[in-house]
Amino acid sequence: MTDKKARIYAVVNRKGGVGKTTTAVTLGHGLAKMIEGKGHVLLVDLDPQGNVTTSLGLAANGKDMANVLTGDVPVEQAILSADRSSQGGPSRPNLWVLPASDALADAKLSLVTSAALSSVMDQFGGRSAPAVPTNQLLQTHLAKAVATFDFVILDCPPSLDMLGTAVYHFADEAIVPVKVDYLGVGGTARHTQDIIAAQARGIDIRVGIIVPTFVRAREILARQMMQALIESYGKSRVAVPIPQSVVIEQAPAAGGLTLFEYAGDSIPAKAYWRLVEKVYNG
Ligand SMILES: Nc1ncnc2c1ncn2[C@@H]1O[C@H](COP(=O)(O)OP(=O)(O)OP(=O)(O)O)[C@@H](O)[C@H]1O
Ligand SMILES: [Mg+2]
Repeated sequence: MTDKKARIYAVVNRKGGVGKTTTAVTLGHGLAKMIEGKGHVLLVDLDPQGNVTTSLGLAANGKDMANVLTGDVPVEQAILSADRSSQGGPSRPNLWVLPASDALADAKLSLVTSAALSSVMDQFGGRSAPAVPTNQLLQTHLAKAVATFDFVILDCPPSLDMLGTAVYHFADEAIVPVKVDYLGVGGTARHTQDIIAAQARGIDIRVGIIVPTFVRAREILARQMMQALIESYGKSRVAVPIPQSVVIEQAPAAGGLTLFEYAGDSIPAKAYWRLVEKVYNG
């Protein structure tokens, strides 16, 4: 058993387009800035769309999460440096990425099949290579990363499928971005029901922080929604709201920059920095 060092956060919400990837990347980069010279941050992409890599302006190197989960490639061989200073890009000396691609969707299918096959073989007394139980996949294959990095941030897709229990077993805390819009009003509990269901099955994950995103501060609806979040989760668990802002949208498109690189003095960057501090301070 390798020693656990990293604090592991999963950025999750079953709703699409609520700011999960933006939050994971901005938080990951912010934590890296916070601990520069003292430690390292790993961003893990669990979404076959591979948005973490592209939003940081990195090129895939052909090895990724799919190879790691199937046990074909050790985790340290699939991790990319996010530092682009040698190509005239931003300096990120202590930020690293475990990328994902379309191959992850295929890998998930083959993992389900091999887990099922191995249980059938066991039942009939046959021999099969022992499959890693699906809920242990991340703990098993990312053990070395967990022993090395100080923070591990998982960017989750809206639908985790068979990786859901693996994520809840692996992460210490969930960070849940909640889009503060019309459809969100009254439905806040839905965002965390997966996590509460996992807790009920004895899985040790906490809803750490709710991050209100796309907030239009002047709208009454947004204020009501913020109030509802605070009533449901308690003031200490609701982060400073992240405003709806074009700079947030522009940053990844502007040559793969993070919000802190693209508009570090902007109001949204300051709001995200408060989240970085909240996570850092535990
Ligand atoms: N606060 C914000 N203000 C304006 N645009 C935002 C904000 N947060 C995110 N966006 C933009 O909204 C889009 C969706 O954000 P993002 O990709 O972070 O969501 P997601 O939850 O990861 O989506 P998916 O469920 O598809 O993975 C992106 O184009 C992003 O730049
Ligand atoms: Mg995403």
